[in-house]
Amino acid sequence: MLIRLSTWTAACALVPSAVAFYPIEPDYGDSSNGNSERRAALSPPSHPSSNTNSPRGSVTLPLRRVPISSRQNSYNIVNNKDPSHANSVAVDQDGNDLSYMAAITIGNSKEEYHLLLDSAASNTWVMGQDCATDACRRHNTFGEGDSDTLKTDSTTFDITYGTGSVSGTTASDTIHIGSLSNELTFGLATNVSSEFEAYPMDGILGLGRGDNVDGTVEAKGIIEALHTSGVISAKLYGVHFSRASDGVNDGELNLGEPNKDRYSGDLNWQDNVDNDRGFWEVPIMGAGADGTTTNLKGRTGIMDTGTSYMLIPEDDAIAMHKLIDGYSQSGETFSVPCDTKKPIQITFGSQTYNISSTDWVGGTLSSGGCKSNIIGRQTFGETQWLIGDVFFKNVYTVFDLDKSKVGFGVKDPTASGNGNEETSSQAPSTTTSAGASPTASSSETLSTTSVPGTSATSQSIQQGGARQGSSHESMLALLGAVALLVVFV
Ligand SMILES: *[C@@H]1O[C@H](CO)[C@@H](O)[C@H](O)[C@H]1NC(C)=O
Ligand SMILES: *[C@@H]1O[C@H](CO)[C@@H](O)[C@H](O)[C@H]1NC(C)=O
Repeated sequence: MLIRLSTWTAACALVPSAVAFYPIEPDYGDSSNGNSERRAALSPPSHPSSNTNSPRGSVTLPLRRVPISSRQNSYNIVNNKDPSHANSVAVDQDGNDLSYMAAITIGNSKEEYHLLLDSAASNTWVMGQDCATDACRRHNTFGEGDSDTLKTDSTTFDITYGTGSVSGTTASDTIHIGSLSNELTFGLATNVSSEFEAYPMDGILGLGRGDNVDGTVEAKGIIEALHTSGVISAKLYGVHFSRASDGVNDGELNLGEPNKDRYSGDLNWQDNVDNDRGFWEVPIMGAGADGTTTNLKGRTGIMDTGTSYMLIPEDDAIAMHKLIDGYSQSGETFSVPCDTKKPIQITFGSQTYNISSTDWVGGTLSSGGCKSNIIGRQTFGETQWLIGDVFFKNVYTVFDLDKSKVGFGVKDPTASGNGNEETSSQAPSTTTSAGASPTASSSETLSTTSVPGTSATSQSIQQGGARQGSSHESMLALLGAVALLVVFV
């Protein structure tokens, strides 16, 4: 029994190791929403036909880039400003703070591909032109004929994510990211599962530390490749993620050097704990809310830019929410009063970081409460917390591959765009929602049609459309099945 259990744990750990995101469709116990909301929650963005104002969907805000030829990509993407800092690229997002992406071009093609920034995995891939699945049909695809310098090969790759799978063959070409260019070997996906229909990205940019999973894209990652050819001087990157409701759109990925203008004081460097999964995982010295700490000890945080929220084991989530007056729990999700202003706090080393209520308090529920973006779900080990974009909107974070450290910088609240001010969760909605939410006073950016979740993929859905969603259960089933397979192999 014991052996089985630990085998199971190990197996579970194996599965998502190549993986950014996790399926999640928390049920907030919002009974009046019923099934229709559950279905809406699984809907992908609308089809092009329902979204006529632009070939790419309702692209709001600075349209920095216009694709030469628009294929089927009809997802909302809010382009952020081109950074002034050297060796940097804008981090675009979906308008709901759920998926953060960088636009790249490949070879001599002018087409842009938005790749999800994924610090928890090390595989880079883009949807290939030979991919005929619906997910690929809706996105920008790349292949022979797009770039004269593309070199394909016959090495296959196969990645099983918590939310689906991707397979194909590897290829090499020059990747252009911001002003930087470098040869990179990446996956050209020929089979992309339906889960990816729900998300705006055309592929994934692996920014993990390298994993030991066979059969994935086995090549140098972008940071290492840029460093090897001397394009960047240090093997590190820093991220500043924008909050859509701020309207500043200054998200940026800094390559090779942190942007000192993004934080005050020094970076607080923390050593990675040992793991062979390529996670950026650091010890959590304390956690609480608004100056009151829980007595949770021995936890670690997996810093995952590919996850939208925070997923922590249920008991830990209860301990955290106990610090919030008026909270209630429903399964893995929690509801809190919408006027909650307390920041959630996490301590790394001796420095405590705030996650503003603007970010951890989500949309309204019919009960009158608001969703908490801290979900009670164990994704990996029982002391491991998956810390996603709610954190990166609040803390400038640097990932150093050479030193195997993560550096945290306190964002200067007075700097524009850092948005540490406590705006209420009743900020105006910036998105359209498909399905009528019962309480549709529609607070804040996460409309009730969104799936609160974690991941990149778990979410989405600015404008609900149409996927008939069976996928949640089946995704979980998939995860379970793969885990089982590993157990019994
Ligand atoms: C695509 O992947 C799915 C899931 O792994 C698999 O069932 C299917 O056979 C694959 N299709 C092709 C054409 O390889
Ligand atoms: C975190 O929030 C508290 C209020 O609970 C505030 O006093 C403190 O200055 C904030 N810290 C930072 C680093 O912004």
